Amino acid sequence: MSEKKSFIYKICIVGDGGVGKTSLVLRYCEDAFKDNYIMTIGSNFSTKSVVLPEYPNYDIKLQLWDLAGQKHFSFVRPPFYRGATGIIYVYDLTRRSSFASMANWKEEVEKVIGLKSSIIVGNKLDLADDNHREIGAQDGEALKAEMNALSYYETSAKDGINVESIFRDITLGILKDFNKI
Ligand code: GTP
Repeated sequence: MSEKKSFIYKICIVGDGGVGKTSLVLRYCEDAFKDNYIMTIGSNFSTKSVVLPEYPNYDIKLQLWDLAGQKHFSFVRPPFYRGATGIIYVYDLTRRSSFASMANWKEEVEKVIGLKSSIIVGNKLDLADDNHREIGAQDGEALKAEMNALSYYETSAKDGINVESIFRDITLGILKDFNKI
């Protein structure tokens, strides 16, 4: 057996208040979901080990920083971006304003750390039926191209759809950035 190689990577999850950042991390780390909304004050921090079957000798830990999305917390966020190796940008498929904010989020992040591997996420897919969806998949794909992101996913933190894929893709992107794969 070849020797284990350990990596720790910092990932920040950003997007408007209430889009589901905390819920996506909770689904990924604990396979759980809570219906009640508890606004993040400042930041939440979680860690999770990632298993990549194709790299069995890699021991990868993600440090996940889920940052408060409300406007009045913008002054506390910039220091948290320092050292981040990847960014997950989240909007709510049923709220156009949260999609429109993506450019501001990119600017806020890149002012501090420049361009990093990133993923675009349209969340709350379970609510996005014909009557409630405000952003189409093609808009998400276009935003992905515009923001130079690695991938675009439509997710549901409630049902767990595509949640693993976000974290898998960003991990692979970061490993590539560091010439580990
Ligand atoms: P801030 O802390 O304000 O930045 O919000 P946040 O982006 O962390 O949102 P949070 O995860 O707290 O979710 C806000 C609300 O949306 C909560 O009531 C969640 O239960 C709900 N929610 C999050 N994701 C989903 C989803 O995929 N589907 C549904 N139906 N509800 C969701």
